[in-house]
Amino acid sequence: MISDSPIPHVVPAGRMAGSEQPVLALSDGWELRPWQADDADVLFAAGQDGTIRLWNRLLVNSPEEARQRIERMRRRWQAELAAIWAVARPDGAAVGLIGWGDIDLQGGGAEIVYWLLPAARGAGVAVEATRRVSRWALDDLGLHRLRLCHSTANPASCRVADKAGYTLEGTQRSALLHADGWHDQHLHALVQGDI
Ligand SMILES: CC(C)(COP(=O)(O)OP(=O)(O)OC[C@H]1O[C@@H](n2cnc3c(N)ncnc32)[C@H](O)[C@@H]1OP(=O)(O)O)[C@@H](O)C(=O)NCCC(=O)NCCS
Repeated sequence: MISDSPIPHVVPAGRMAGSEQPVLALSDGWELRPWQADDADVLFAAGQDGTIRLWNRLLVNSPEEARQRIERMRRRWQAELAAIWAVARPDGAAVGLIGWGDIDLQGGGAEIVYWLLPAARGAGVAVEATRRVSRWALDDLGLHRLRLCHSTANPASCRVADKAGYTLEGTQRSALLHADGWHDQHLHALVQGDI
């Protein structure tokens, strides 16, 4: 049979669409689980948080728009373009978001996105969740290279990257347009074999 490309796909198409998005356990009863329609108020609240608006460029104008975004997460898993989890406390309440955007199964890459509501910050959850979704992406999904990018003006995110084992590869100049103008961004990455 004649193949379209001399380079094999890193991950065969269908590996995500053919399975349910898993629940990933963290320590102390915390877990990463798919977003649900009744988490819409949490997503709406995140869109009102100044820091999340700034660094994640998240704009959610209403709980209805939040519901639509949650529905879109489900469609994007099915389309194998994104894998986004709610960071949930032991009582089940969503307090953050983490996951993969820009998934390229053929090329074996993806870029992480995360935020926590203010009350959940400072307890190590972001680092643990980053490690957990990274293991899932490398071991379970089979990606090869994971990117973590953040504005150079966001030291908290830089610390998360370092503590989760991502190597700082360089600074991309004028790479991200934020509300206050263009920001340089750090490119960190984790590749198969790093951890
Ligand atoms: C980035 C974010 C998810 C980190 O969450 P967190 O709960 O503080 O993360 P953790 O507790 O797992 O650990 C973060 C580390 O960063 C450090 N840190 C937190 N805020 C910091 C700051 N402003 N400057 C420097 N370091 C900071 C913490 O001290 C900790 O390091 P330590 O354990 O060595 O003390 C959270 O701050 C957040 O949601 N921010 C707003 C949205 C955002 O920035 N998203 C990322 C876009 S790239």
